[in-house]
Amino acid sequence: MKQSLWINGNEVETKEYASLFSPYNQELIAEVSVAAESDIVRAIDAAAKAAGTLRNMPAYERADILDRVVELLKEHKDECARIIALEAAKPLKAARGEVERTIMTYKFAAQEARRLVGETIPMDAAPGGENRVAYTVKEPLGVVAAITPFNFPMNLVAHKVGPAIASGNTVVLKPASQTPLSSYKIAQFFHKAGLPNGALNVVTGSGRVIGDVLLADERVEMITFTGSPEVGKYIRENAGLKRVTLELGSNSAVIVDEHSKIEEIVPRIVSGAFVFQGQVCISVQRIYVHENLYDPFVEQFLSEAKKLVIGNPFDESTDISAMISPTEKERVLGWIRSAESQGAEIVLGGKEENGALQPTVLLNVPPNEKISCEEAFAPVVHINRVSSFEEAIELVNESKYGLQAGVFTQDVQRAFKAAKELHVGGVMINDIPTFRVDHMPYGGVKLSGMGREGIKYAMDEMTELKLISFKLS
Ligand code: SIN
Repeated sequence: MKQSLWINGNEVETKEYASLFSPYNQELIAEVSVAAESDIVRAIDAAAKAAGTLRNMPAYERADILDRVVELLKEHKDECARIIALEAAKPLKAARGEVERTIMTYKFAAQEARRLVGETIPMDAAPGGENRVAYTVKEPLGVVAAITPFNFPMNLVAHKVGPAIASGNTVVLKPASQTPLSSYKIAQFFHKAGLPNGALNVVTGSGRVIGDVLLADERVEMITFTGSPEVGKYIRENAGLKRVTLELGSNSAVIVDEHSKIEEIVPRIVSGAFVFQGQVCISVQRIYVHENLYDPFVEQFLSEAKKLVIGNPFDESTDISAMISPTEKERVLGWIRSAESQGAEIVLGGKEENGALQPTVLLNVPPNEKISCEEAFAPVVHINRVSSFEEAIELVNESKYGLQAGVFTQDVQRAFKAAKELHVGGVMINDIPTFRVDHMPYGGVKLSGMGREGIKYAMDEMTELKLISFKLS
């Protein structure tokens, strides 16, 4: 299969194509276009040209297009899940879940397109403001560049394309190199749904080349990026006056307070640690368990994690498959070995199995080991004993990241204490940090990024607030 760029409502061939291989069995999946600088400029030209059309399109028409995309996704659910499983090695069960979420995300985008509201401003609250009627409107920025990661190749694209179109922007989308096919499929759906040519363009190839052209072009008003902190910082430093939102990584933690009902919460925490091979920004990486529960917690956690099935992403029973690349697997194995050499105990996994990394559980990990203090993005978790709730909060906050945290407690005072003191973008009381529904505000503090997604919140980032004031005579 040959996959060309999608620019101005047409497939555009390129001089160069790169082979895309399955992360699971390394079989050739497709030959994918590598955009040259001139192709990227062409995509921006198309998006800039279509910006006026989208800006002036009535909200109900933008919403109708998004509703039609929802219908197309529903009709092609299985095909979409299989694309995700193929290019990302996401087990089908999880890939199907992602498609359901993608449908919800575009549904929310359609709804929010219909209610992009401003507010009236009581100008007479200040002396000199009398006899005025004033209100705000939210206007689209124009061209939004979206750079998306491999781990949710449909839903994290939806979190950028959905709000951009809902708020009347046009898009140049650069999907992750390993997962371009999901994006090209979505572009086809938008085209069929009646989105004007040029309003969504997809370019693939070198992240650095595409990123630099997008950053340098003054017609691109905003960059919305999900990925690593290193690339996020580079974008921020080179974006000039462009709007920037960054959804970066984390080493998310969960606190298990004394009196927690561990038999109820362990299966949930295991799923939060290992779903999609732990390649989720809010995957459970650090677990802080009250000393009274520590031993039974570890025992039950291991027994639950041992049930996970490693295998082919296309097998219905598979829970864990290959990581996105051998390089990533080797990186994490190196981090595990390093922790082991510093006294950590590997109580489950720690090895490769049929090309995948086994679900891995560590104890006694020194906090300065990378497997603890950096984002692992792998099926690896470590469990720590704490003697108080306060100590657990301190340890969670010691991270340089701050995306979401989970807290299991029966004590309402402690729940509120955690809500107040945890320095993260979202606190999930009685749930794992991995919890997300697609309309909630989502984003981090510290190295986890800036700005929020969750359709309504992303639309705020993608619009300019304009004030209109009428002076009455
Ligand atoms: C992410 O990895 O940032 C997205 C997590 C999710 O949407 O569940």
